[in-house]
Amino acid sequence: MDAPSKEFVLAGSLEELKIKGRLVVHGGHRPILVIYDRGRVFALDNRCPHMGFPLERGSVEDGILTCHWHHARFDLESGCTFDLWADDVPICPVEVRNGDVWVKTTLTHADFAAHWHQRLANGLAHDLGLVIAKAMHGQLAAGVPQAEIVREVALFGAQNRDGWGVGLTILTALANILPVLPEEEAYLALFHGARRVAADCDGEAPRRERAPLGSRPDPAALKRWLRRWTNVRHREAAERTLLTAIAAGLSPAELADALFAAETERAFADTGHSLDFINKAFECLDLVGWQHAAALLPTVVGQMVAARGAEESTAWRQPVDLVALCEESTSELADLFAAGRGSRDWSGHAALAQELLGDDPARIVDALKEAIRAGAAPADLGQSLAYAAALRVARFGNANEHADWETAHHVFTYANAVHQMLTRIGTANIDTHVTAVRGVLHGAMALYLARYLNVPPARIPGDGGEQLDDLPADPETIGAALLDAFDRQRQVDLAASLVARHLTLGHSPQALIATLAHAVLREDAGFHAYQMLEAGVRQFGAWGDTDEGRHILIAVARYLAAHSPTERASLQTADSARRLMRGGELHQEAGSS
Ligand code: FES
Repeated sequence: MDAPSKEFVLAGSLEELKIKGRLVVHGGHRPILVIYDRGRVFALDNRCPHMGFPLERGSVEDGILTCHWHHARFDLESGCTFDLWADDVPICPVEVRNGDVWVKTTLTHADFAAHWHQRLANGLAHDLGLVIAKAMHGQLAAGVPQAEIVREVALFGAQNRDGWGVGLTILTALANILPVLPEEEAYLALFHGARRVAADCDGEAPRRERAPLGSRPDPAALKRWLRRWTNVRHREAAERTLLTAIAAGLSPAELADALFAAETERAFADTGHSLDFINKAFECLDLVGWQHAAALLPTVVGQMVAARGAEESTAWRQPVDLVALCEESTSELADLFAAGRGSRDWSGHAALAQELLGDDPARIVDALKEAIRAGAAPADLGQSLAYAAALRVARFGNANEHADWETAHHVFTYANAVHQMLTRIGTANIDTHVTAVRGVLHGAMALYLARYLNVPPARIPGDGGEQLDDLPADPETIGAALLDAFDRQRQVDLAASLVARHLTLGHSPQALIATLAHAVLREDAGFHAYQMLEAGVRQFGAWGDTDEGRHILIAVARYLAAHSPTERASLQTADSARRLMRGGELHQEAGSS
């Protein structure tokens, strides 16, 4: 990054410049191009802001400088581009003193943070990956807090699209794992999040403002109304109800309870995406501040009311009516929770997870009921469900269709969302438990329906004291081998073994998570890969460095290995931006004279 400086350097005599038309000065961190055009002198960064081609090789006509690489055009005086994908070229102050041309070799921005804030806004508005990458780098270098950048992007995404989308989910998922990422990876994570939000909003109609009701009904009435409007798919009514709940000052837990109850009016809606988006909107508010609740939270309502429930699909009705099974047990839940209330030291999470992986849906429901009777809170059930769903992924058989990975993934990320929402709702009000547990029941049935994915089950490495001594032992070599495995297709089992090797040797889980994050961030990852990584990190946090934690990270690694490598085009954009921002030469060969 350029630092502000008052230094001017001598470029040459005005006569020499007039004769040659252009000169290049090597000052500061970048070469400066000085151009004489129709009686005036201009100075700008000699590296094209697009891909760094030397602008001295460009042509000037009628005050317009054209780069000869991809033909981006720039206003010579301001450096502003006519081709937004190329970005503006920085200009430098220039003075003619006693027949000599002096150039200040630093940028003209008085406020770097404000400049890059505006550039990010432009990049988002026009979906310009390179501009977004540079702005992200510039803001981080200017010391803008990561949370502030996430807030800017999140609010842009909420306002410029009619509903929460994939981009905001990716942004939130990546922002959640920023604390475990090294600095360089944080830049990549924020870039990916922002570019996906921009892509989501590109060409979309902006969101329309809606207002809360003039009254302030009690929380129970608002919760009932939200369920009612969801059932009849009345989006406007549901949004106004939610806005009223926010305006009435309902706590995040109360809002979560109301939305969770409405969402679970339908079973496993939109294959779990609808609940996942709701959970991510809550997590986004944790990151950017709850003062933005009215701007962000209602964006999930459109999908929630429109979502297709699993009760509409044959698999949930035949040969066993799973929806009826869930509804029957719901009527017993209040009594079961009341019975289990005295024993709050329930710790059968792992054992319950194994029962949830059974092949008899009635026995699965019975296992949940028994856990409640024994004192399990809703969030406990969510944790067991999420672990069981992670095991589905960890044991995903290689003989399955590749597309089936998404079936396993959907259940896992849904279960993680159920767990997070139930944790947020808490245990204070037993009345909330009954509707809350519907999400667990739906997740358990989705897990049951996905049982074929583990027939036969893939072996989980590291179990039973397996040492895996044919693999490297030191953490750096294991990490390199893991990344190497991700460089090649279908290295699912090797990736799982390397994760097991790392953890069974007692190496740092944080280092392993950073490697897995790097493996995602260097790819043109699909939406699900980001979800899988983040949900895995969350669930690992619940279990810690245990056998269960190892199984969860193995699930993440197996899924990522099945979806790597990709073209890595986004990484190239991010690298180009980084090198341009650091004053590097992208076209050294072309630029050498
Ligand atoms: S337009 Fe100049 S490098 Fe692409």
